[in-house]
Order: sequence, then C-alpha cells, then structure tokens
Amino acid sequence: MSLKRKILELQKKREKVLQGGGEKAIEKQVAMGKMTARERIVTLLDENSFHEYDLFVEHEARDFDMDKKVLHGDGVIIGTGTIYGAPVCVYAQDFTVAGGSLGLMHARKIGKIMDHAMKMRVPLIGINDSGGARIQEGVNSLAGYGEIFYRNTVASGVIPQLSVILGPCAGGAVYSPALTDFVFVVDKISKMFITGPGVIKTVLGEEISMEELGGAKVHSETTGNAHFYAESEMECFSQIKKLVSFIPWNNTQKAKKMEPKEPHTDKYPISEIVPGNPKEPYDIRDVIRAVSDDSDFFEIQERWAKNVVIGFGRVDGETVGFVGNQPLILAGVLDVDSSDKAARFIRFCNAFNIPLVTFVDLPGYLPGIDQEHAGVIRHGAKVLYAYSEATVPKITFILRKAYGGGYIAMNSRHLNADFVFAWPGAEIAVMGPEGAANIIFRKEIQNADDPDKVRRQKIKEYKQKFANPYVAAAKGYVDSVIEPQETRRLLSHALEVSQNKVDNRPSKKHGIPPF
Ligand code: HXC
Repeated sequence: MSLKRKILELQKKREKVLQGGGEKAIEKQVAMGKMTARERIVTLLDENSFHEYDLFVEHEARDFDMDKKVLHGDGVIIGTGTIYGAPVCVYAQDFTVAGGSLGLMHARKIGKIMDHAMKMRVPLIGINDSGGARIQEGVNSLAGYGEIFYRNTVASGVIPQLSVILGPCAGGAVYSPALTDFVFVVDKISKMFITGPGVIKTVLGEEISMEELGGAKVHSETTGNAHFYAESEMECFSQIKKLVSFIPWNNTQKAKKMEPKEPHTDKYPISEIVPGNPKEPYDIRDVIRAVSDDSDFFEIQERWAKNVVIGFGRVDGETVGFVGNQPLILAGVLDVDSSDKAARFIRFCNAFNIPLVTFVDLPGYLPGIDQEHAGVIRHGAKVLYAYSEATVPKITFILRKAYGGGYIAMNSRHLNADFVFAWPGAEIAVMGPEGAANIIFRKEIQNADDPDKVRRQKIKEYKQKFANPYVAAAKGYVDSVIEPQETRRLLSHALEVSQNKVDNRPSKKHGIPPF
C-alpha cells in the first residue's frame, strides 16, 4: 500500500473514532444542553493547541456481550494543550460512549495523562461526565478508580488538579474530584452523588430528585464540595482559564507575574469602607478590591460559608491569596464550615508558593451547642494548623475587631506571621468590651445603685484600656499601626521584602492536621 493510501486509511480511522457514541447519543447530549467531550476540550484550550493521545484505544471487556460492542476511545479523551500559553494535561469523559462509564482501558488512559502531568509538572484538568464504574467490567472498574485516587493523592501539592463536573457523576466519579484542588460545577448540568436517588429510595425509602440531591447549587451552597459555580459551560471554561492564569504550573514555581495595575481607588476608597462603629457591617471584598491590581478579586467558594472570604488577586502583578473575615455575614465569625474553607485555601497557597494576605475583623469563633456538637474544636483547629504550617510570606492587616481565638487564628504574630499591621480602629482583646465588662466588673455592677450607669462606665473604661491596637503594638505583637490609605503601599513593600523568605522547619514524613 502506498503511503498516500495509508494516510487515507488513517484519516478514515480517525474520522470514525471522532464520532464518539454516534449521532443519536450526541443528539441526546446536545438536547440536555451539554457540549460533547471534544467540544469541551477545544473550547477550553487555546486555539489549535490540543494534541490527543490514545485515540485508538479499545476496551478488552468480554462479558455481557461486551465483545460485540465498539466503544470509541473507550469513552474518554486525553491529551495536552495550553491555556493562555501555559501547558496543561487534560481528560474529558465522553458520555455518548457507554455513559462515560469507567472501565479498565478508560481508567488506564486517565492514569496515563495523570502520570504525564506529573512527569511534565503541569496542571491536570479532568472533565467528568460519567455514570461511574462500568458495571460490565466488575472489579477492573473498581481497580481503575482506585488507581486514579492513588495518583490524585500522590500528585496533591505537586501539580494543581482541577475537576470539572459536566454531567451526572455517580459513585467513583465523584471521589477523584473530591481529592483534587478545585471543583467546577454548572447549573442544571452538574450532578454529584455517591448513590443516586434510585438507590436512596430502595435503601431508605426517601424520595429526592437528582438536582435536589447533588445539583450545582447544592454543592456550591450547602456541601461546599464545589469551588466555582457557573450558569453555563462557557462561563465555567472562562473561570477555569482565569484560575489557571493565577496559579503556578507546579510546586517548584511561582505563578506567572503579570503587568502591574493600580486599583480603582475612586470606586473603592479604602479609608471610607470600614465603619468606625464595630457593630456596623461592610463588605470585606471592597477592602480586597481596594488593594488588588485593577481591583480584580477572583473569589473562590463565593456561595458557601460566606462569613469568610477567600480568593486570588494580584499586587504589583504578583498573585496573592486573600483571606478575610466577612462582617456582612454572622459578623465574620469563624465556624465549622468557614474554618474548613479558609484552612484548605491556606494549604493550597502554601503548597504552591502563593503569599497569603489576611484581613482581620471578627468577634471570634461562633459559640453554640450546634457548633460544639458539629466539632468546632476540630474544624476550628484547622485554621490554626494551616496558618502555623504555612511558610510562604504571611501578611496580616487587623482592620477592626480581633477578639479571642479569632485574633490568634487569623494569622497572628503568634502563628509566625511575617508582617502584622493594624489600623487605628483595631480592637485587640480577649472579647468585646460589653462581654468583658459584664464578667470582670460583675460584682461592682450588681452592687451599684445605678447598675446601668456603672456598666456603661466600665465598658468605656475597658474600651479605653484594651479596645485599641496600641497595647498589642507596645508588646511588638503588631509591627505598625498604619493609616488605611497606607495599606497597599505596605502590602507591596512586605511582598517585596519577603521575596527570598526562608522558613525551615524540622524534617518529618508529614504532619497530622486535624482533618
Ligand atoms: C455501564 C453505563 C453506566 C455504568 C450509564 N451507562 N452508566 N454503562 N456502567 N455505570 C450507560 C447506559 O447503560 C446507557 O447505555 C448510557 O450509558 C447512557 O445512560 P442513560 O442511563 O441512558 O443516561 P441517563 O438517563 O442520562 O442517566 C445517567 C445516569 C444513569 C444517572 C448516570 O445512567 C445511572 O444511574 N447510571 C448508573 C450510575 C451508577 O450507579 N454507577 C455505578 C456507581 S458505583 P446505552 O447503551 O443504553 O446507551 C461506583 C463504584 C466506585 O462507581 C466506587 C469507588 C469509591
């Protein structure tokens, strides 16, 4: 056969495989408002940058008439490409081929691209759209999942791992995403559950729809399993691209530096954002926008545990991770969920060389029976652990309230912060003046002719003595008391000074954080 004919043969073979599960299955996919797996990859990556591997892989299953079935590419597409020029490894499960179910060869393909991402030290993006373990392949499917979970774990903290949920992901199909760094969901398209509504009805007699059980809103607002929520697949891909632009390729590098831009100080005048009255709420995101380049703040888990705010921004073109208490929600307290949220983000930033910038304004950890019984001791300790463990540059601004455990937990000097600045309105104390006066002056207040007057006096006395930044500054716990408009300049200075930070810790296999 001439080379020309051989090329024609290759083209024909390719064409056949590129049809995926065939016209009908593709029509069904499109009718559900979903792109095909190949369209997803092409839309996500830079134009003409995708190179596919293992197009001609075939399954080896023989039971249940599987030997008579052709499953193109075994239901998954793998390859490499770029996003804004940054190399990435990617896989996308093809629901049109046996529901994207995971059999032995499907799993081997995913394993191959994961190994490739690790060798090349580049981010891995998994687009999941799968009915889970391929039932006809029995233990081979379970083995495939196990080997993916193992690889996810070994790669954790070495390369960024992003999971995109673009279909019904059941059983094993949700555990790999749960082991990765960021999970993206799309309204009405994404579903995640360990066991679906059918099994729940059989076992427990409870009825629930797929959407209510594990839809995009449930995982963005209730469980916290998802980090990014989008209304459409296109919006989701923009979010992925933006995230990739903020993070480094691997744990030995820093994120790419961008052209520095000034914040929009006219829209976010930093001296006017935080009210003087400590009980008055405001949006901490405005403070973040007031100091970040172009006032661009890329928020993560925006819909869950909103009492703490996390996300990326840039200062002088350099990526930083922002953590801030949110006085708009529950006065910005730390509770079970917000502790989980903040701690995980801090650990991501630390693993990937991203400096941490913390804005503090909170009355402490949330008291209450529900919180105690939900394990606020264990979950709250995660924040202490994550900040203490972090060796990246750690910069703190105390804006207003910093009471009790909240003061310590939010990257205080005592957890080895590198720079601690306080605004003049900062109140650093064991608790708020009202609570404190009621406890320490209880007898004097009770025995007074006019208890209310004495209470007011004692509160004032306490405020004057402790509710300020100067007691902490006098001990060196706060490095400088600064004016709000000095914040960006000092943040920029702190980042510059920290460029070659060295913080060696005792060698150990790994710590044991309060998971
Ligand atoms: C083999 C599967 C499959 C599976 C779907 N298909 N899931 N084939 N193994 N797990 C096939 C269907 O037979 C069908 O093939 C095609 O994919 C499309 O599926 P439909 O059911 O027609 O689609 P839809 O109505 O949209 O429903 C999607 C679904 C449903 C909700 C995902 O298919 C479903 O419930 N599947 C089973 C989910 C599940 O229980 N998986 C096992 C989890 S256990 P044809 O040929 O008809 O087009 C697990 C263990 C690992 O994963 C645990 C590790 C911790």
